[in-house]
Amino acid sequence: MTNIAIFASGTGTNAKKIIEHLASHPAPLHGMEMGERKPRVALVVSNKADAGVLKIAEANKIPALIIEKEKFFRGNAYVDELNAAGIDFIVLAGFLWKLPSSLIKAYPKKIINIHPALLPKYGGKGMYGHFVHEAVIAAREKESGITIHYVDDHYDNGDIIFQAKCEVEEKDTPETLAKKIQVLEHRYFPIVVAETAAL
Ligand code: GRF
Repeated sequence: MTNIAIFASGTGTNAKKIIEHLASHPAPLHGMEMGERKPRVALVVSNKADAGVLKIAEANKIPALIIEKEKFFRGNAYVDELNAAGIDFIVLAGFLWKLPSSLIKAYPKKIINIHPALLPKYGGKGMYGHFVHEAVIAAREKESGITIHYVDDHYDNGDIIFQAKCEVEEKDTPETLAKKIQVLEHRYFPIVVAETAAL
């Protein structure tokens, strides 16, 4: 088993799709060869006690951990707790805090993030949620999409694992573009998590 922790600050629609996908699908190809690597979501981590993702964890009987700023940034970054829960892989699905280096070092090439644009464009500090879509539309881009990438010490910077594109039409608003992006996220993120976590 590969034990995944999903970190999320918000609604958690991606977390839900990932949990459901991993619970209902057989292991990916290389996971099948190494049955013990079959990934499952073992923990949901949030920095917000009222985040929607916690309800999703509860509904799926997955333990949840609410983290505090002080301990995350100046303490052990919860590495001991993650180790104790047997976590081998971390998925950021709308997690808004930058990860401390100590956590990244504890999970080298074992942390991935999804970004709602085609990196390296429209990434970096402050580029999240509607800010991303507003910037894409303001720049009159013809396409946008999703980027799934490894996490390193810089915002939205690690090696890219997967991208998918959608068209940005004249009539699109940040809201309609967000919907198109969400369709791509829900379609691809669970599959990429399953594949990458089992590596
Ligand atoms: C997604 O758009 C993702 O790209 C971004 O945060 C959002 C999370 O949405 N990093 P949800 O909470 O999974 O609905």
